[in-house]
Amino acid sequence: MISEPSVVENASGRKPGEPVQSAITYEKIPTHIYADAKDASRAVAQEIAALIREKQQQDKLCVLGLATGSSPKTVYAELIRQHREEGLSFRNVVTFNLDEYYPMEPDSLQSYVRFMKEHLFDHVDIPEGNYFIPDGTVPANKVAEFGRSYEDQIQSYGGLDFQLLGIGGNGHIGFNEPGSLINSHTRLMMLDHSTRAAAAMDFGGLAKTPKKAITMGVSSILSARRVVLLAWGERKAPVIRAALEGTVTESIPASYLQTHPNALFVIDEAAASDLTRLQTPWLVDTVEWDNRMIKKAVTYLSRTLGKPVLKLTNKDYNDNGMSDLLAQVGQAYDLNIDVFNQLQRTITGWPGGKPNADDTKRPERALPASKRCLIFSPHPDDDIISMGGTFQRLHDQGHEVHVGYQTSGNIAVADDEALRFADYVVDFNEKFGIDSPEATRIFKDAAEFLRVKKDSEMDTDEVRYVKGLIRKGEAKSTCRFVGIPVENAHFLNMPFYETGKVEKKPLGEEDIQVVMDVIKKVKPHQIYAAGDLADPHGTHKVCLDAIFEAVRRLKNEDFMQDCWVWLYRGAWAEWNIYEIEMAVPMSPDQLLRKRLGIFKHQSQKDGVVYQGTDSREFWQRAEERNRATAGLYNQLGLAEYEAMEAFVRWHF
Ligand code: F6R
Repeated sequence: MISEPSVVENASGRKPGEPVQSAITYEKIPTHIYADAKDASRAVAQEIAALIREKQQQDKLCVLGLATGSSPKTVYAELIRQHREEGLSFRNVVTFNLDEYYPMEPDSLQSYVRFMKEHLFDHVDIPEGNYFIPDGTVPANKVAEFGRSYEDQIQSYGGLDFQLLGIGGNGHIGFNEPGSLINSHTRLMMLDHSTRAAAAMDFGGLAKTPKKAITMGVSSILSARRVVLLAWGERKAPVIRAALEGTVTESIPASYLQTHPNALFVIDEAAASDLTRLQTPWLVDTVEWDNRMIKKAVTYLSRTLGKPVLKLTNKDYNDNGMSDLLAQVGQAYDLNIDVFNQLQRTITGWPGGKPNADDTKRPERALPASKRCLIFSPHPDDDIISMGGTFQRLHDQGHEVHVGYQTSGNIAVADDEALRFADYVVDFNEKFGIDSPEATRIFKDAAEFLRVKKDSEMDTDEVRYVKGLIRKGEAKSTCRFVGIPVENAHFLNMPFYETGKVEKKPLGEEDIQVVMDVIKKVKPHQIYAAGDLADPHGTHKVCLDAIFEAVRRLKNEDFMQDCWVWLYRGAWAEWNIYEIEMAVPMSPDQLLRKRLGIFKHQSQKDGVVYQGTDSREFWQRAEERNRATAGLYNQLGLAEYEAMEAFVRWHF
């Protein structure tokens, strides 16, 4: 069995192993929540390893159902480590994968055969004939027959001892999309739009993404003797809540696991964040009413009842499970004023501090009046998309603003866009000639490759160079637009990013060094970083880890004694209202100006390569999010602004 989770299993501060006191459970499947995906994966790998060893001792085969996608990668990595370092053998292991795109050649870049070999099979001693993956090459009229024989084959090994699952944002398990029946078998499935959009990253765009897949059915999955579902990151939070707390429904196929006698959800805190026990822990158990919990509860009550904070009554608190809060702090009146004031004090038009003002209750220090600010931007456009209004204000208010562009972002430039630029340079050089034959060669090679590039091909170094240059030009253009000198734009080109593939290398020493170098050079009073703590695999998280490590290493330097780190949310989500420590408002004009700044990133407009499941353009996402933050403040009873950017401080 999986060992005790390393995070508290409820919100009252109880440690693992301590007894659960009359907590009401909303989840209908046992759920273990871990601080992060790594800890969680270690526990899952441990269970799998124990099962393999147990079967070995009994001289039996261990039959595993396996999944692909980003979720199980960390589990596979841990199994490989155990094979290498702890002698875990896979000689008695037989595996059946859940699914495969259709049609799909096994040696294609995106095939699940290739995925499994790269992430597990090639690194352990599983015998060649012991792993099975649905065949993406069977003719269409033979798929039904193939499905039956796949299931027969599983049965011939005695059925699945253990099934590992991920979960789609739409609730799919395997590729059993919403609408799949509980008694469905292995079959051909039409992929949901959201599934294809999520996979489009790997295929270089939606148009090139397969429309179908062969998947094990729901009944095939439910027949496994043990099922463990993994989910990481806040992107999965809503569907995790629906699958665990909602009714069993075909619109969320993962909810069928509620009918399984031995299923377990292993999730990280971010994926758990919408669960009742985390969102409104006071409805589940006794909680410790510290200031953060009070802010969380009061803002929740205000939003739920649609009443401004200052209008909440004792009855509102009592009726909504917060009578013990009142008992502890007194009247609603006092509580409301306290929380209202705290919210009010987060709002400032002076993100670099207001000179000559009393700063005891302001988010930032007044001194030094003119600060050096270093904004880290994971991709070349995150600075303007996520904190463009604040970026502009910092510059306008006389601070010395620098930007550290962490990666080249080259992978997100479309081929035809790159070809357009390469052609431009080639034509120009041919007409006027330039001194550098090397430059001519780079652009010529890039253009020639792009003209004949196949979908499954990786970009050459020359193409990646051209694509990176396009994005660099766009970032410089934004800096000019805001008004900072181009010398203050630092292009770090962190090496972990430069694989030419969606899949990146792990963070390395060189990455940390380039981040440390720019901090040492700028000696900032403020660092702004994209605080995407929730996405365990994304570029933003790796970029953030590099900043955290660099800051930790530099924290004893003199200049760091006066440096504050502010985190903005880089992806599409905003900080929770109770977490926000600085909210910078924007007027309608300032919001429009930010939009124009985002427009400088022309390669990211009009159908970007990595759209994801959100079809809005970046400026739309940014505006909607900033307006929503302002709307929320207003709903809580604070002044009505057009839009707001929000920050949380990181104390290192
Ligand atoms: C993969 C599979 C899918 C994924 C799901 C989540 O074999 O069957 O159900 O598990 O789409 O994908 P990730 O883990 O990439 O979020």
